Amino acid sequence: MKQQITVTVNGVQHTSEVEPRLLLVHYLRDVLNLTGTHVGCDTSQCGACTVIMNGSAVKSCTVLAVQADGAEITTIEGLAKDGQLHPLQEGFWEMHGLQCGFCTPGMIMTAYDLLQKNPNPTEEEIRHGLEGNLCRCTGYQNIVRSIQYAADKMRGAATAAGGE
Ligand code: FES
Ligand code: FES
Repeated sequence: MKQQITVTVNGVQHTSEVEPRLLLVHYLRDVLNLTGTHVGCDTSQCGACTVIMNGSAVKSCTVLAVQADGAEITTIEGLAKDGQLHPLQEGFWEMHGLQCGFCTPGMIMTAYDLLQKNPNPTEEEIRHGLEGNLCRCTGYQNIVRSIQYAADKMRGAATAAGGE
């Protein structure tokens, strides 16, 4: 029997009837047509499905859509504001942190969570923070540089705005 859920995704509220077994990643991709969030495995390892749910990165292939009832979710489609790339998106572009792009939405959402909790991470902390996200193309080095670029830019922006 279907259940009604209300989920806020990238600031927009959606109410839907879903099967209790529907995974959040399929809800995002197939019901809301937000196809930036990818599926790269069926064992919760790759992290291509990572989104922010109530402030923390989660693997959306391992959450049921019904568990997201009442939640606030941010996906890769919600990061740019008024056509301006988020510093993480800019960093991945500038530092060549992607090739095929399949892992990139999940990588960026994990990095987003990481920088929220630790705005000035060491290289080791970045690598540790990305342990749940696999990439077959880049060898990770440029992903680390991309996140360092974003961290620098976000701290600079905070200073310029008079914060921290
Ligand atoms: S699809 Fe691989 S961890 Fe979610
Ligand atoms: S860029 Fe291809 S898997 Fe990471």
